Amino acid sequence: MKIFKTLREFNDFRVSINKEDIGFVPTMGNLHKGHISLIEHSFLNNSITVVSIFVNPTQFGPNEDFAIYPRTLYKDCEEIHGLEMKLQRKDPEKEIIVFSPDSMNDVYPEGFSTKIIVSGVTDKLCGVKRPNHFEGVTIVVYKLFSLVNPKIAYFGKKDYQQFIVIKKMVRDLSLPVEIESCPIIRAEDGLALSSRNQYLTPPEREKALILPKTINASNYLFSKNSLKVALEKFNSLKADVMSKGKWEYLEVYDAESLEPVTEKTISFLIAGAYQSTAARLIDNTVVKNNYV
Ligand code: PAJ
Repeated sequence: MKIFKTLREFNDFRVSINKEDIGFVPTMGNLHKGHISLIEHSFLNNSITVVSIFVNPTQFGPNEDFAIYPRTLYKDCEEIHGLEMKLQRKDPEKEIIVFSPDSMNDVYPEGFSTKIIVSGVTDKLCGVKRPNHFEGVTIVVYKLFSLVNPKIAYFGKKDYQQFIVIKKMVRDLSLPVEIESCPIIRAEDGLALSSRNQYLTPPEREKALILPKTINASNYLFSKNSLKVALEKFNSLKADVMSKGKWEYLEVYDAESLEPVTEKTISFLIAGAYQSTAARLIDNTVVKNNYV
């Protein structure tokens, strides 16, 4: 497994590759099984998989956890190396490359002032409580796309809105990359895996299970009822759970456009953000409209 920590080294390597099928998995590190599943998807479908590990400051708000975000590069690389050895038993010619710029200047040179604003899909859900979050995500992902120049990039459905925002950016700017989404990986108790779960004490975690339980119950409501009935039941479920904990949002949107739902919506996104004492947690599900 090759690891590149500077832009120059990575660029030199990138121009030396003559393979077309490069898969890309952008991450902020502290890898768990959710990240690993993306890397596996990429490995199976591409000759070379580039995994970036970079804790991107521009997507954190001033009172968020940038300073304490877990940085575990050594352990992450060990994990990727083990995975590569396992996967190479079947596909010995494929490889995984880690790109982890350790100088902020390599990603954001002094005086950096370029912005990419994807309007519409960013003005709801997480975009409301985290005002500049998606600007930070789009600029770093754009920059990484232009450095890595992948054929396909893989994103987790865990951050569903992020996946839609990136897809929209790629479409609007005609970027030559395909965006693929991968399923949410959960812990045994149902909580979606996240680097932030480790901030939770066991009792906080127990309380936070209201998030996946509510998402699961909502999935059932929308798959078994017409939209009108589902919305009625969902609103009463929402009133009930919201009275029991600190929620940022629990909402339903059209899963493709993030516009309000109608009878003609093909699939529904039900997304929630729950504020536990130590961490802000998000979760979602996509349900096909069985009544369309
Ligand atoms: P990060 O939170 O490290 O996540 C990297 C990728 O892993 C994202 O595509 C995310 O959706 C996916 N992922 C996280 N938890 C998952 C889970 N439980 N199941 C499936 N996939 C999961 O998302 C970011 O980093 C950043 O915003 C980034 C895109 C790297 C830009 O800085």
